[in-house]
Amino acid sequence: MRVEVQGLGHRYGDNPWLFRELSAAFLPERTYALTGPSGSGKSTLLSIIAGWEAPDEGAVNLEGIKKVNWVFQSPHGMPQRSALDHVAHPYLVSGMTVRDAEVAAMSLLVSFQLAHTAERAFSSLSGGEAQRLMLARGVAADPQLLLVDEPTAQLDHATARQINDIIGQLAAGGRIVLIATHDASTRDACTDHLDLTQFAFAAERS
Ligand SMILES: Nc1ncnc2c1ncn2[C@@H]1O[C@H](COP(=O)(O)OP(=O)(O)O)[C@@H](O)[C@H]1O
Ligand SMILES: [Mg+2]
Repeated sequence: MRVEVQGLGHRYGDNPWLFRELSAAFLPERTYALTGPSGSGKSTLLSIIAGWEAPDEGAVNLEGIKKVNWVFQSPHGMPQRSALDHVAHPYLVSGMTVRDAEVAAMSLLVSFQLAHTAERAFSSLSGGEAQRLMLARGVAADPQLLLVDEPTAQLDHATARQINDIIGQLAAGGRIVLIATHDASTRDACTDHLDLTQFAFAAERS
């Protein structure tokens, strides 16, 4: 299982190239920080890898990836439903019994430091708790590839640390995890780092 991109290049219309000649391989059990300033094309790269956007140049190869999941920048949940319900839902969809789904969900809540929120309504969670819950739900859906866009963008430093503390859990079980971020501490919590500005240089040269 692996994700490989070869010679990727993309620009919107007549705007300058965001990146060019971008080649990389992404492997299981690793978390990759995709970094670069705002507007450098991090979200665009995630969209291209997810297959939502066709690159102007190059190719994406998702080898052995059956399911891709995306965790967005702002946490969206169901206000009245409990935290446990949010994480149990993907397990129920996959065919587990209610009891098994709740046991599996509780175990994920524990590893995402959310056990204390299990019975609480989504609307009562703090920003950091809600973001961690979205990540736990993303993992519960059991994708082979998890794409995360700016998980700490809406959060202050102290709260962002709570996210960085659980980033190591995301790739557990052999998942490939890509995290777009411009936060240095989020980057440091990842196992690998791909700096998009490196490929912006290739874009400027030509
Ligand atoms: N669908 C689109 N059409 C035109 N321009 C876009 C589109 N999506 C993004 N852009 C532009 O491309 C650049 C890179 O955007 P983005 O990938 O969102 O960067 P980042 O996630 O690094 O902040 C920005 O200048 C943005 O305005
Ligand atoms: Mg973005």
